[in-house]
Amino acid sequence: MKYKKILLTGSTGRLGKTILGLKSNLPFLAPAKNILDITKQETIKSFFEKNEIEAIIHCAALARMKDCNENPAKAIETNTIGTANLVIETINKEKMTGKNIRFIHISTDGVYNGTKGNYSETDAAMPYNHYGWTKLGAECAANLLKNHCIIRTSFFNPENIKFNESATDSYTSKVTVNYLANAIIKMLNSNFIGIINIGSERKSDYENYKKYKPMIKPCKFKDILKTALFPMAKDASMDISLWKKLNKSIIKN
Ligand SMILES: NC(=O)c1ccc[n+]([C@@H]2O[C@H](COP(=O)([O-])OP(=O)(O)OC[C@H]3O[C@@H](n4cnc5c(N)ncnc54)[C@H](OP(=O)(O)O)[C@@H]3O)[C@@H](O)[C@H]2O)c1
Repeated sequence: MKYKKILLTGSTGRLGKTILGLKSNLPFLAPAKNILDITKQETIKSFFEKNEIEAIIHCAALARMKDCNENPAKAIETNTIGTANLVIETINKEKMTGKNIRFIHISTDGVYNGTKGNYSETDAAMPYNHYGWTKLGAECAANLLKNHCIIRTSFFNPENIKFNESATDSYTSKVTVNYLANAIIKMLNSNFIGIINIGSERKSDYENYKKYKPMIKPCKFKDILKTALFPMAKDASMDISLWKKLNKSIIKN
């Protein structure tokens, strides 16, 4: 096993639960928020003192765009400052032990502008709402770690598609939460350092959801925007060629 202890933040959330549910037999430590609250640096410090962490998968966040728009202060505190707190304690731990900690940071396609689509990792980041800006702030901190991997992505749970209508003319590279959880484990075990888009080929939201919820009705993006409570992307699809290449080489080895 490459890492003896792996800290998973956000383990009670949609993605965190799915990672734990993979039954990968990896040695996860998955503290609840009342034990490790990323907005309270002393709780991270105390957790690190008690546990010899070798790797971190950082999923904790204020992850709903609506919540970030309604409560920007909490969004900054959790996504940007919370991640920075975790990074600072990781740096402190590295200094003490002389060992680099593998840090997988879960970011979002929302750091891109969401208009032209097919965004590559080297395209300019220009978020279109509060969520994206606070997650971009988080990336700035994660980038300072020597052994970081920043995953820009978008996912959904095929068993829980809440809406009854979906746009035929808005696009993403969304993957299922299960696909993403497996990809994260691959990135944890890889030596890749930097930013990587992980997703599927560009698909309309309707095409994506229809497969799992056949009764879903098609609509237009402008209809979704009429009732949207926060700015949304029309085309957040990503260039996933780096991920395809890396995934292929991981499968080969
Ligand atoms: N959902 C998407 O479509 C999507 C797309 C791209 C990227 N992402 C990113 O993927 C990651 C996981 O998203 P998700 O949908 O699984 O989120 P989620 O279901 O909302 O779960 C968020 C998790 O973060 C924890 N958390 C919140 N504040 C915390 C704090 N101060 N300290 C410690 N833990 C805290 C929550 O704990 P409690 O339950 O105790 O509050 C929960 O476990 C996030 O980084 C998100 O930005 C999500």
